[in-house]
Amino acid sequence: MNRKKILGLTSWCVLGVAMALSYQNCSDPDYGAKGSGSVVVSRALCEGEMLEAFRASYYPFLKDACKNCHVPGGVGKGTFAHQTDIASAFAAFKNATTMKIENNAQSSGHASPFTGTQNTPQIQAASKIWSEAQEICGSDVGGSFDPQGLTTSKAIAATATYRTITWNLDTEMSKGGGDLGQAAFSIQVKQVTSAGMPPVYYFDNLTVSTGTEKIQLGEIRIKINGQLVQTNSTYSRLSVEVDKAKTGVVISSATAILDVPVGTGDTVEIGFGKLSKIASP
Ligand code: HEC
Repeated sequence: MNRKKILGLTSWCVLGVAMALSYQNCSDPDYGAKGSGSVVVSRALCEGEMLEAFRASYYPFLKDACKNCHVPGGVGKGTFAHQTDIASAFAAFKNATTMKIENNAQSSGHASPFTGTQNTPQIQAASKIWSEAQEICGSDVGGSFDPQGLTTSKAIAATATYRTITWNLDTEMSKGGGDLGQAAFSIQVKQVTSAGMPPVYYFDNLTVSTGTEKIQLGEIRIKINGQLVQTNSTYSRLSVEVDKAKTGVVISSATAILDVPVGTGDTVEIGFGKLSKIASP
């Protein structure tokens, strides 16, 4: 308990410095534009901050525990244990996703004796630093949120594997929508339990399908049981346009780990700071 507290504090300090140094990197426009010409992303998650968070969290562990295979020329897929080039380690890390990194690191089935539950404490400590960085990174987003669009609430009903929740942005809204040509928004959710920690929700893979209208949407926030999850800003900087008649356009594959108590009857709503159709010329 105590140790965790201290770790948390230290990482806040480290990140505070990192943030001051690299704030200008917040506008890198390279986030989320995954394989679709119809997606335009205006602002990135803070790449600079997250690189520093990687340096302070997963990197020292990966560099040591995975060095036999996850380096250039090694047999492992992805060079996230690169010994000298943290930027390429970071790129490989993001590509592999924190979820797979954490799973494989703790699975003896992956590459025992290098992987297994002996790595759990280090993974948990790294994960904590990482999610704090995500919070700090979005802390300029502001507290009040008056969305242009808000979906109806749906049961989360999460299990250990991802399930998809979809809303019709015209017919399943409690605010906004209605003129979006039957566009639909989906998000995936699962419940993750790791040893000694309360279960948490993972949200992932935001996708949009459009009908007869080109739409723009963004500044996405998640509400659980009617409450905005204030600490989460994973999708709050997202801003995308999706052409009409597109199917399953991935607008973000960043994982949002929601640090809220998980309950059986939990519901979710999705708020869009921005949600509208774009009139054809
Ligand atoms: C003995 C060699 C070896 C070691 C050590 C090793 N791995 Fe791997 N890893 C592999 C191989 C081979 C693959 C590709 C096949 C597969 O996915 O299992 C792989 C794949 C992966 C992937 C999937 C990447 C992707 O993009 O799908 C992840 C994540 C991963 N390893 C994590 C780790 C972590 C974390 C460690 C250290 C704690 C580690 N591995 C240690 C051999 C290794």
